[in-house]
Amino acid sequence: MPQLLRPPLVAGNWKMNKTVSQAHNFVNNLKEAVTEVNDVEIVICPPYTALFSLNQVLKGSNIFLGAQNMYYYEKGAFTGEISPLMLQEAGCRYVILGHSERRIYFGEEDTLVNLKVKAALRTGITPIICIGEQLADREAGKTEEVVQKQLVGSLAGLEPELCQMVVIAYEPVWAIGTGQNATAFEAQEVSNFIRKLLVNNAGSNRAKKIRLLYGGSVKPDNIAGFIKQPDIDGALVGGASLEVADFSLIIKAIKKEVENKCQQPS
Ligand code: PGA
Repeated sequence: MPQLLRPPLVAGNWKMNKTVSQAHNFVNNLKEAVTEVNDVEIVICPPYTALFSLNQVLKGSNIFLGAQNMYYYEKGAFTGEISPLMLQEAGCRYVILGHSERRIYFGEEDTLVNLKVKAALRTGITPIICIGEQLADREAGKTEEVVQKQLVGSLAGLEPELCQMVVIAYEPVWAIGTGQNATAFEAQEVSNFIRKLLVNNAGSNRAKKIRLLYGGSVKPDNIAGFIKQPDIDGALVGGASLEVADFSLIIKAIKKEVENKCQQPS
């Protein structure tokens, strides 16, 4: 079967949910549920406490680990923070950066996200950079302005070769945890806008290879519509990644849509 230019990716953002034993339970069941899926990259982003031991459980499986945040120094007097080096040793291949909950509750801004993006890439960890507008921005017709500012700020000063490595998650803030997802059309419109902007950072050939995810109330019954879109390469899933049944349905639906996409002329 032909391969897509951008390998599909689905990441489960558990946020502040699951103890270590709950995490192990989940992962053991998920492994069984998705053994057949080898053409979708599956990532679990548990709390820090579960990372190291989950890495042992996931070895040799088709599921990879990501963290939900990190600081940008390798080590030092930063009480409560976690460094890229620590995440790397714990087995993380990905790290979510600039999630709207970090921006809203912890005051993270694009300049800090930018430092973290650079630190992750230096360490060989792929950043999943979250950008997206608030409801008031959308209602004021400012979606593109806000998304552009966040994207430009997060990627400032990155060489095109490094820029190609990042993953961008478009997550409209009004859709996160609300059950009110963006329509597939709205998500495609913004994703296409993002891909065009990425040409400025990465050049047109590399921009075509950067994976764009949609996030915000993704569920088993709406995922297919997103994956059918030409600029959407996967999903960042919050609530629906906490139950094996829902998350595995989402993963399998992505697999099915990806197979359909592979059949279409690009
Ligand atoms: P949700 O969260 O799927 O629960 O809306 C998405 C996210 O925060 O990444």
